[in-house]
Amino acid sequence: MIYLDNAATSWPKPPEVLKAMVDVLQHAGGNPGRSGHRLSIEAARVIYNAREDIARFFNIGDPSRVIFTSNATHAINLVLQGLLKPGDRVVTSSIEHNAVMRPLRSLEKQGLILHTVPCAPDGMLDMRSIAAAIDSHTRLVVLIHASNVMGTMLPVAEVAHLAHHAGALLLVDAAQTAGAVPIDMKAGRIDFLAFTGHKGLQGPPGIGGLVIGDHVDTSQVEPLMRGGTGSQSELELQPESLPDKFESGTPNIAGIAGLHAGIRWLMDRGIHIIREHELELTRNLINGLSSMPGIKVYGTSDLERRTAIISFTANNKEVSEIGLKLDDDYGILVRVGLHCAPAAHRTIGTFPGGTVRLAPGAFTTMDDVNKTIWAIEQIIAS
Ligand code: ALA
Repeated sequence: MIYLDNAATSWPKPPEVLKAMVDVLQHAGGNPGRSGHRLSIEAARVIYNAREDIARFFNIGDPSRVIFTSNATHAINLVLQGLLKPGDRVVTSSIEHNAVMRPLRSLEKQGLILHTVPCAPDGMLDMRSIAAAIDSHTRLVVLIHASNVMGTMLPVAEVAHLAHHAGALLLVDAAQTAGAVPIDMKAGRIDFLAFTGHKGLQGPPGIGGLVIGDHVDTSQVEPLMRGGTGSQSELELQPESLPDKFESGTPNIAGIAGLHAGIRWLMDRGIHIIREHELELTRNLINGLSSMPGIKVYGTSDLERRTAIISFTANNKEVSEIGLKLDDDYGILVRVGLHCAPAAHRTIGTFPGGTVRLAPGAFTTMDDVNKTIWAIEQIIAS
């Protein structure tokens, strides 16, 4: 089997991730911050250590600004629903995932003013267009860091500069980039970073987070959920202190331990080395596909501005047929269709049919890539 669906979820997971999840349930299985006995204290320590490493990984100073969520969608909703009020103006791009578009469209019905800046057909964002769209009434700019459809990366650091100049904040959806490319929130001046644990960070599904920049005033963000935090239990009002303000209910300790192990695995190997490996695979896939008659490959040709996501269509086969044949006849697992991002497909001209998406990962080999190119050649020639 060749797994090329790492943009949906990375697989396989490093053995260290599986071990950390079992270990924590065996040896630190108390409820963190609640009971005060040794297993509860051990569980709290596991979570605190993870928070510290995540803060370091994304370069923020205060670990309590790492808020654990169940995934990137949850983290995005926390910001959009917690920060925005009717009448606020939001600027976003035309290649966003439904994790961003659905909550924004819903808030639009309640009076939010939404401005969508069109990207080019290769997904690139024109800086002049977004500069013109961000004005002094803009409360938030929301950008996907890299498209989950064609891998094109948006220039978030440059946009952060524009947003701050206008008095707005920037939320970055890093679902596809956390763990795949280095992210420095301080250098990039990112205010909110939403990430998921189960893709580039090599962790399990069901755990993600929101990282809030050190300078962001969190009193302006309402929690998405309120409930027990293990702190200030005498109060029936939600504590204002972080991370408790935004983390109610028993946390996913096994998920956090697995995520932490995934991040340590990445740090040990070096994120730059994995990025180089994935770019090499991407280059070969693009070259192989581009040389086939009737195949169109999407996304920017500038490899430095893309992640390991390659979308293509063929002029003689439906994407669903290609996906099915890859799985059934060659054991190659990919994702076809709209990838929960209809806006991105409209932008690149592949709506409503979608594309075949190949997403190699840290464990993909060049042999996997060569076999995949050969398999696609056979399918389109048949
Ligand atoms: N958003 C994930 C994907 O693109 C699940 O496949």
